[in-house]
Amino acid sequence: MANWRKFILWFAQEHVDFRVQEFESLVKMFGLQVRLLTEQTMKPFWVVEFRDTDTALQYASRSISLRAMFELYAHSNKLPEFHQRLRNHITANWNTLVEYFRVESSFKIVVETYNKHFSQREKVEKIESMDYLPIEGPVNLKNPQVEWWYIEFWGLNPTAVPAEPEDIMFGRLVAYGQRHLIKELSLKQRKFIGNTSMDAQLSLLMANQAMVRKGDLVFDPFVGSGSLLVSAAKWGGYVLGADIDYMMVHARCRPSRITQKVREKDESIRANLKQYGCADRYMDVVVADFSNPVWDPRISFDSIITDPPYGIREAMEKVEKKISLKANTRSDNMVHYPSTSHYSLQSLYGDLLVFAAKHLKLAGRLVCWLPFHSEDYDPKMLPQHQNLILIANSEQQLTGKTARRLLTYEKCSEYSPTEPFLGSTTQLPTLSQDFRDRYFNNALESRKERRVRKAEVRKQAQVEMNARGKIPSDGRSKKRDLNKARFV
Ligand SMILES: C[S@@+](CC[C@H](N)C(=O)[O-])C[C@H]1O[C@@H](n2cnc3c(N)ncnc32)[C@H](O)[C@@H]1O
Repeated sequence: MANWRKFILWFAQEHVDFRVQEFESLVKMFGLQVRLLTEQTMKPFWVVEFRDTDTALQYASRSISLRAMFELYAHSNKLPEFHQRLRNHITANWNTLVEYFRVESSFKIVVETYNKHFSQREKVEKIESMDYLPIEGPVNLKNPQVEWWYIEFWGLNPTAVPAEPEDIMFGRLVAYGQRHLIKELSLKQRKFIGNTSMDAQLSLLMANQAMVRKGDLVFDPFVGSGSLLVSAAKWGGYVLGADIDYMMVHARCRPSRITQKVREKDESIRANLKQYGCADRYMDVVVADFSNPVWDPRISFDSIITDPPYGIREAMEKVEKKISLKANTRSDNMVHYPSTSHYSLQSLYGDLLVFAAKHLKLAGRLVCWLPFHSEDYDPKMLPQHQNLILIANSEQQLTGKTARRLLTYEKCSEYSPTEPFLGSTTQLPTLSQDFRDRYFNNALESRKERRVRKAEVRKQAQVEMNARGKIPSDGRSKKRDLNKARFV
């Protein structure tokens, strides 16, 4: 029987654009019944109603955006009303709440304010303003049995803090989200990383977008150092990857860590999974060119999670197909090194969508990044395919002028080889005019501009120092002297 309960969800203000989409994916994956009670979803605090506490705990067991979840006792934007509601709630629900107030239940009250700083004294005053709480247990700041949180939200704009808080809330801590995994899977301590390894937080968010469940078969066709396999395996998926780069697949590429000169012998994607206790989820990684699929038509994946090459820190290449081979150029006993040619983003995304339409299970998801120049963005230009629906699309800014979007597609109908491709990948200027070329042309220009601007700032600073009668120091010679001193 449903026992609807209200909760405060407290989110990290990081990758905010991914929050709603992750929430919706997890709700769908677990089939949760939930009602949103606050409107502005960009706020770090939401009030929601879950069908029951177990439902709420299921959500928290997977969310990366969630910091913590509290059972709501009172919520208002006016202090007197807030206190009245808190009193009423405790009286009305005394039978279920009594256990938290008992003499043997140690407790702690945390005061959390957003967008406004309060001193320790002011925080204590806020706690003292709730002296009507019928608490009987002892305070335990280190390891309390019950943790209550008093929260004030003072808007999102640090330059226009409102006169009164927008939300005042009180609740009991029920669960933390899964943000501890961000540190646990951090690239800093990972056995094998490459230049383009995806950070742990985004990898975990991607696996949530893909709704990876225990026992799923997950594929990354541009696997690199396998970061996306790590997060999928952490959620229980069996993982499989492919990459055109032999050196990368075998972890023999140049080390990415500044302190490392040569790769350790035991670095590998498999070793990464072993490091995180999911070696049993490793299927394999193979050297394969995505533009020439090697996969049996019968193979189907629960999800495809990938970060294709953008051509900035890795090559975008495909194996050249020779239309006509001259009889005298090859013999069976000759070693063959296939030549490669440029793999444009446009054809890569076309191939990716067709591959997903063919090889995803029905309702399976494709989660992939699409880089673009910020000025080009228009939702109409996103790649489409008739067997896939785009269900989520969140942006991450990369540089001043570039960004990438995490696209989540769901397979909605079966692929038919006889049906013509009705989608599109041609409307995107970024795709038709290469992202890479424009990235470097823009970057070159702005680097030059930056150099000139910095030189002007330095010149101006020297003039001002002279005017103040100071002797301008030459930063370079100072550094050189410091370095010399280290060896004396
Ligand atoms: C952005 S990186 C992927 C990084 C990866 N997510 C990780 O965490 O290390 C893109 C990868 O695609 C690979 N690649 C480029 N062209 C390819 C092709 N035609 N087929 C398969 N892989 C390709 C590159 O070698 C590179 O490792």
